[in-house]
Amino acid sequence: MKAVKLAPSILAADFARLGEQVVEAEQAGADRIHVDVMDGHFVPNLSMGPAIVDSLRRVTHLPLEVHLMISDPDLYLDEFAAAGADSFVVHWEGNNNLHRTVQRVRALGKRAGVAINPATPAMALEEIVHDVDLVLVMTVNPGFGHQHFIQTTVAKVRRVSELIARFNPACDLEVDGGIDATTTPLVVRAGATVLVAGSAIFGEPEGVTAAIARLQAAIRQREEQHEPAEQSAL
Ligand code: DX5
Ligand code: ZN
Repeated sequence: MKAVKLAPSILAADFARLGEQVVEAEQAGADRIHVDVMDGHFVPNLSMGPAIVDSLRRVTHLPLEVHLMISDPDLYLDEFAAAGADSFVVHWEGNNNLHRTVQRVRALGKRAGVAINPATPAMALEEIVHDVDLVLVMTVNPGFGHQHFIQTTVAKVRRVSELIARFNPACDLEVDGGIDATTTPLVVRAGATVLVAGSAIFGEPEGVTAAIARLQAAIRQREEQHEPAEQSAL
């Protein structure tokens, strides 16, 4: 079983203390930083651009993962790569040339991921999963933080996990939206290997370090609960 990684989403951070909060997340054991980019067109919200990636690059050694919720992602890849992005997650929806986009990410020497929205079937990934390092199953509709986790996505995470096992076992399976200590065991059990969390990390009154510890405990809880069953099945 792959170790489950945590990717704090800075969308929920206090932007006046962004550097400080990212450093705290790194020290608390975060594995990568998730940067949500929105253009007010692909999703009904605006967020951040390459300048944020450039600033973060100077305060953390963690990989910076850029989730592009924008139309025409190809137009911005170079700029984000120059700013210090390590990986890109682009959407399956609305991209007539997804394979080309993925190849462009690869040509920049970056890791490539493809995201699917809640209404997009797992099978949509079948012809692209070979070419990517990561698949992201959205567990809310993209565009906003702090939304309710969509329960029906758990079964889809499981289907995507099976697809990955069959076609590209090295590929990561990421989930994004409504991930907290309650939903973590559900998605990890379904096969998620990277958990994006915004409000459950940066929106917790107890602080970033305690919030990360709580999510890590939720990951372990799943592992402890299911290890014996998996062993007896062998
Ligand atoms: C939503 C973004 C998410 C968001 C998750 O469109 O892609 O990364 O920050 O926020 P939470 O964890 O608060 O649901
Ligand atoms: Zn995201």
